[in-house]
Amino acid sequence: MDKFVIQGGKKLSGEVSISGAKNALLALMPASILAPGEFIFDNIPDLRDVRTMSRLLEMMGLGVSIQENRLYIDSSTINKFEAPYEHVKKMRASIYVLGPLLARYGEARVSLPGGCAWGPRPVNFHIEGMKKLGADVVIEHGYIVAKAARLKGTHITFDTPSVGATGNIMMAAVLAEGITYIENAAMEPEINQLAHFLNKMGAKIHGIGTKHLEIEGVQNLNPAPIATIPDRIEAGTFLVAGAITGGNITITNCIPDHLRALLSKLEQAGCIIKVERSRITLESPHTLQPVSLTTDVYPGFPTDMQAQWIALMCKAKGTSVITDSIFTDRFKHVPELNRLGARIEVEENVAIVHGNGNLKGAKVMSTDLRASASLILAGLIAEGETEVLRVYHIDRGYESIEKKLQKLGADVRRIKTEEF
Ligand code: EPZ
Repeated sequence: MDKFVIQGGKKLSGEVSISGAKNALLALMPASILAPGEFIFDNIPDLRDVRTMSRLLEMMGLGVSIQENRLYIDSSTINKFEAPYEHVKKMRASIYVLGPLLARYGEARVSLPGGCAWGPRPVNFHIEGMKKLGADVVIEHGYIVAKAARLKGTHITFDTPSVGATGNIMMAAVLAEGITYIENAAMEPEINQLAHFLNKMGAKIHGIGTKHLEIEGVQNLNPAPIATIPDRIEAGTFLVAGAITGGNITITNCIPDHLRALLSKLEQAGCIIKVERSRITLESPHTLQPVSLTTDVYPGFPTDMQAQWIALMCKAKGTSVITDSIFTDRFKHVPELNRLGARIEVEENVAIVHGNGNLKGAKVMSTDLRASASLILAGLIAEGETEVLRVYHIDRGYESIEKKLQKLGADVRRIKTEEF
C-alpha cells in the first residue's frame, strides 16, 4: 500500500495538463460490446479503474490493449456475458456491461455492486429500466440475471437523474425495437459523450444534453473511434489546489464549459479566474471568503467536488455550509480533516465548516477517491508533515497526481509502505 508524505505550506504555481475523464471512459469502453470489431479510444488516463474495466472486458472475451494513452478493444471475440462480484464490488461502473450485453446478446449476469465507503449505492433504476425495456430480470445469489429475446422501446422516467442508469438504459435502447423515451435523464458531459459516441457507431439518439432523450432503435451498430473528454473533476481538484495554497495556476486541456458551477463558486470565494479556449487560470485572493453550496446534478455543483470544496473552506475566513443533495452520507473525509485540526460538524447531509483552520500535519486515512483528494489538499496547507495512507484510492481516478502536484511546486512524495 502506498502513502503520500506531504510537507505543507508551498504555494502552487505553473501549468498542469488535464487527463481524459475516468467517468466518460468507464461508460465508453463497455459500449464496445454493442458492435463487433476494433475500437480505438484516445486521450485515455492511466488509472486503476480503467485497468479494472479492461480486465473485466478481457474476462468476457474482448481483446483489450493499451499503448501510451490509446486503448484498443476488439469486441468480436466476446464469449462470456457475466460481470462477477469480485469486479463489481471493486468498481461499481462494471454494471455498465448490463445494458450492452442485453442489447446485443439478450442475456447478462451482473453482480449487484453492494455498498461503497459512503453507504448503499442502489441500482434499482438500472433494473427497473431493463424490465421496462422488456427484459426478464431476477436477482439470484446477489446477481442480476437478465434475459431478453429483443428489447422493445418504451417510456422511462427517472425519479431523480442518474448518471449510471441513464448510460446503461441508453446502451440497452440503441438496439431495441422501436423508440425509447427517457425523461429526467442525466446531462453530465460524460453521458453526453457516450450518446455522441453511440451515434457515431450508428445509433439514433436525439435530445443529447437535455433531460429528454429519444432513442430510435436500429438493427446494428459499427465500431467508431473516440477521444475521451478531459476530466472536469481532476480539473476542479487542481483549481482548488491552486486556491487552497494561495497560488496562481493554469490548467490546460480542459473544457471550461464543464466547470461553470465550480468556477462561479471559486470567484465568490475571491479567486480571479481567466478562461481561454481550453485553459483556465486561477489567481488566489489574499483571503478566501467562505462560500456555502449545495451539490446538484449537472450543470449544478458536482458531488464529486464536495470533499475538495470542504477542504478549501477550512481555510476560508468564516463559516460555510456544504450540503450534498446527491449522496446523503458522503462525508468520510470529515473526521480525517478534523484530525488535521479542521473544525467541521456533520449533521445528516450537511457539513458546517468553521474556517480559519490552522491545520497541523498528521497521519490520515483515505477511504474513497474524492475523500483522498480532500486529504491531499488539506495536507498541502497543513503545518509540517502529513501522511495520507491508502493512496490506492486516489490512483483510481487521478493520473500520477503526485507528479502533477510536484510540477506545480508541492512537496509531496509517494512512499511504498506495509502500513494499512
Ligand atoms: C456516477 O455514479 C459517477 N461514477 C460518480 O462518480 C458520481 O458521484 C455520480 O455519478 C453522481 O454524479 C461514474 O460515472 C463511474 P448516480 P453513479 O446513479 O452513476 C441514486 C467518482 O468519484 N440512484 O448518478 O453511481 C444514487 O444513490 C464517482 O468519480 C438510485 O437511487 O451515480 C444517488 O443518490 C463517485 N438508484 C443518485 O441516484 C439507482 O439505480 C445519483 O447516483 C441509481 C442511482
